[in-house]
Formats: sequence, C-alpha cells, structure tokens
Amino acid sequence: LTAGPLAGKRVIVTSGPTHEPIDPVRYIANRSSGAQGTAIARALAARGAEVVFVTGPADVAPPEGVEVVKVETASEMLRGVQAALPADAAVMAAAVADWRVKGPTATSKIKKVAGAMPVLEFEENPDILATVSQSGGADRPGLVVGFAAETDDVVSHATAKRARKGCDWIVANDVSPETGIMGGTENAVVLITGDGAEEWPRMGKQAVADRLADRIAAELG
Ligand code: C5P
Repeated sequence: LTAGPLAGKRVIVTSGPTHEPIDPVRYIANRSSGAQGTAIARALAARGAEVVFVTGPADVAPPEGVEVVKVETASEMLRGVQAALPADAAVMAAAVADWRVKGPTATSKIKKVAGAMPVLEFEENPDILATVSQSGGADRPGLVVGFAAETDDVVSHATAKRARKGCDWIVANDVSPETGIMGGTENAVVLITGDGAEEWPRMGKQAVADRLADRIAAELG
C-alpha cells in the first residue's frame, strides 16, 4: 500500500498534444511538450495517488508509478478518460486539438496533384474538460482542474473559462511568445478557484506541479 496524503485517491491526468489525422500518414498537431502534465502526474503519484495518465504523443516520457493510457486523437482521449472514471479528481493538462479533419482520414493518402491544393474541412472535437465537469452523478470527480493558456487578460479570460467549462479550478498561464513558457522549463500561473485568483511566482514546471499536488491533497483530504 502506498503512503502519502493522496493514498487511496484516484486521479486522472490528461497530458500532451493530440494528433488529428489528415490521412493515414499526415496529421495536425500542436507544440505542447507534455512537460507540465507529466510533472503533475509525477507529483500526484509521489503523494500516494493512484494516477491514470492519459497522454497524447508527448516529447517527454511518462513518469514512473502511474497507469499510462496512450492516445492519439481528442476522441480517443475522451474515451480514455471516461474509461478511467470514476475518480476523486481529474487534472486536464492536455493541449487538446479543437478541431479534427472531417471525412475519411484513415484509408487512403491524399495524392499530390500538380497545381491543385487539397482543401481540408474541419469539425469540432469533444471538449473533455467540459464533458467531465458537466457530467452528473457519481462519474463527476469531486475536484476537476482545467488549464487555460492565454496571451492577454489572463485572469478575466480564465475566470470566464472556469464558469463556461464548469470545472472547479483553472490553472491559468500566459503563453505569450516573450514568456518562453510554452515548450520551456518554467511556468508562471494564476490559480483560479471559487474563492478568486491567486498569483504564483514564476518557478519550474515541477515546482508548479508539486504546489498544485499539495493543494489537491489539502482539498481532497
Ligand atoms: O478551451 P481551452 O482549450 O482554452 O481550454 C483549456 C482546458 O480545457 C485545458 O484544461 C484542456 O485540457 C481542456 N480541453 C479539453 N478538451 C478540449 C479542449 C480543451 O479537455 N477539446
């Protein structure tokens, strides 16, 4: 049996980017490295939580001591999360693609035709954070934490996002290019809870993860 303040607690963590196929060999992705989500999963496991780590194709390896569920697309990520429910808490750190390419993407490679460009049509991906936050009954984790990557008016946008998604907390950060946060090793976040906004100093992503895990332990304890 594991010891620690989160012993006996089950926590789902999403992490990394998603890849949305264009055809069997091409995909659309984003620049998420998976570093922050991986650090959070590591911090939760270190405090004794049973962690289900649902990860897209990330640059960094998953942490030790967690159950790893590897997915590619947003739809797969939603199914992975739903299969892991019920849980005491869920932390949605993944950078989920907002759209997927419409049409049959699995079967044949789009051929190059001189002078003729393909036109891609998109459809909306499921919002995993909103779906889990707004699911009623026993499947709704007691604490759902979302992330908000903003480039301006971080607190007001993140506060609105918390209400719109229906999650309990939002970890908001400024990803303006000059901050060097996206893909970097440090993060500067504002934690938005029902009690308001709390600005944390700039620190390493593992330190953000440790502080967040301590807060989650206090909340669930
Ligand atoms: O709406 P936005 O993408 O800014 O919201 C970010 C938060 O929502 C993150 O916690 C992210 O993991 C989650 N999200 C999600 N499913 C989506 C889009 C975002 O879970 N399709």
